[in-house]
Amino acid sequence: MRVLKHLFDNNQRWAARIKAQDPNFFTKLSRQQSPEYLWIGCADSRVPANEIVDMMPGEIFVHRNIANVVVHTDLNCLSVIQYAVEVLKVKHIIVCGHYGCGGVKAALENTDHGLIDNWLRHIQDVYRYHQAAVDAESDENKRFNLLCELNVVEQVANVCHTTIVQNAWKTGQPLSVHGWIYGIDDGILKDMNVCTSGLAEVSATHRLR
Ligand code: CO
Repeated sequence: MRVLKHLFDNNQRWAARIKAQDPNFFTKLSRQQSPEYLWIGCADSRVPANEIVDMMPGEIFVHRNIANVVVHTDLNCLSVIQYAVEVLKVKHIIVCGHYGCGGVKAALENTDHGLIDNWLRHIQDVYRYHQAAVDAESDENKRFNLLCELNVVEQVANVCHTTIVQNAWKTGQPLSVHGWIYGIDDGILKDMNVCTSGLAEVSATHRLR
């Protein structure tokens, strides 16, 4: 299994299928990318960005990590946001979480998972901000799902708190930040209705003057 031949075979078939529909597809794409969307999602194999919204290569710029967390000082995520906003000029940033997220579950369990616990601390922060609401749910699964949703809401806020997004809004660049959640058991996306499109909608504590 050194060369994973079946994946190369899949690739040949996939490229041929796309070229059959549009012979110039890859030539056009090789010249430039101009996606309108930045997707920040979970690394979970069941939540593939392009497939879920039925989009082709070139249409979505993607960043994924465990539990779709946007950390104020994560240079990896911030670099993706900066490039997407300042160079690609995407019009929408979508933070997409999902129900049944293993990262969120691990954060709730509070058991020892090694290094990753330091990453999951950010989700435990979300739990701490909303502990009353989460603990008010009597059903364990409902608590879990609620924390998956609240994590999306908080990560949307974190995107809006970046200097990158706030500077774009300051200069009048059209940019909206959305929070969605995906059901791995039915393939359906739900809008969390936290769309933010300007500085006035950001909490005063984090708003750039
Ligand atoms: Co996940």
